[in-house]
Amino acid sequence: MRLIKICIVLLLLAQTALAQETKLAATPPMGWMSWNIMSENPNQKDIKEMADAMISSGMVKAGYQYIFLDDCWQGGRDNKNNIIADPKKFPSGIKALADYLHSKGMKLGIYSDAAPLTCGGYTASLNFEDQDAKTFASWGIDYLKYDYCNAPEDVETAKKRYGKIAQALRKSGRDMVLGICEWGPREPWNWGAQVGGQSWRTTYDIRDKWLDTEGKGGVGIYNVVDKMAGLASFSGPGKWNDGDMLVAGLHGTKGPSSAFKGVGCTKAEYQSQMSLYSMLNSPLYASCDIRKMDDEARTIFTNAEVIALNQDALGKQAERKIKTDIWDVFVRPLANGDFAIAILNKSASTQNASVNFAELGLTGKYELKDLWQHKVVGKNNKWNGEVTAHETKVFRLKKV
Ligand code: GLA
Repeated sequence: MRLIKICIVLLLLAQTALAQETKLAATPPMGWMSWNIMSENPNQKDIKEMADAMISSGMVKAGYQYIFLDDCWQGGRDNKNNIIADPKKFPSGIKALADYLHSKGMKLGIYSDAAPLTCGGYTASLNFEDQDAKTFASWGIDYLKYDYCNAPEDVETAKKRYGKIAQALRKSGRDMVLGICEWGPREPWNWGAQVGGQSWRTTYDIRDKWLDTEGKGGVGIYNVVDKMAGLASFSGPGKWNDGDMLVAGLHGTKGPSSAFKGVGCTKAEYQSQMSLYSMLNSPLYASCDIRKMDDEARTIFTNAEVIALNQDALGKQAERKIKTDIWDVFVRPLANGDFAIAILNKSASTQNASVNFAELGLTGKYELKDLWQHKVVGKNNKWNGEVTAHETKVFRLKKV
């Protein structure tokens, strides 16, 4: 009898813990990340300007709440081993920045690493997990991106180190989302949620290009999509496959995204990334300079009907139902009973698509709304039409 009671209590505790995790990142986090534009020099002046631009451009209203402050903010540790920000970059400290963002209805993410030093060679959190989590909580941090440079390659160590920081965050007294960033080699989708993470990067760093065929580390948009397409079963509320930064607006001009022939993408390609990352429930974070963002990027980032797929309460990542040399077709159910489909032309020229919904498991007729044209384009059990090179057509289907 006593054993049964203990089991029930343990079960209830486990359920509460699960509910707590799901409350964190119940939908994919959205925001802007400093890494690409600021790299070695994130600083309070530019970050505040970026936050103001996020508001004035309509990004915050569209749902991009977070500023993800990436690597290179750190200034070492003080004489009590508390991690501190570089006083030249952040003269008012990180708490003042978090307060500023919170006062604008925004949130602040920060960055550390599961080793003594980060990828950029700055102070990181190994063996200071509890202390750093408390510091982050006291600053009002809402999210931690936790990288894996300078750490051992085996899976067990990664699970242990991510588990340790996850527990430290939970004990800190503040809700902070944990974004696992070990780039995929240890297949974090298999264990990320179990150790307490809410998302995990699925590939090495994305570059500003459509496709990498050289395999030397320069991942393009479609490489990420192709990887994430196979990981649908691991994703759900509070546990997201993370495709890395949105590259719209970069045009091959700046930052780490330009490495490995990151020469820029066409409008169709940037738009496809937004469409497909929304279908696949990746966290959405812009990486271009929002202060100087062009209309093309703004239109891509702020498409409310596409964002609604990404933020849908059901949280069901799209499945790839068709994969040929030319086409990828994705389907997902939505919370209100509608479906969304995405039709990607992977070839280098315009193609005529002919998709019968029955092939996708959708029987009967549907009203079709084109989410880039923002209009209903028919009532049918199929869609035929042109799709340009690397373009993705996205439709919301309502049963009729
Ligand atoms: C790694 C990550 C990037 C970025 C840099 C910072 O490469 O994958 O996203 O955070 O480190 O040094």
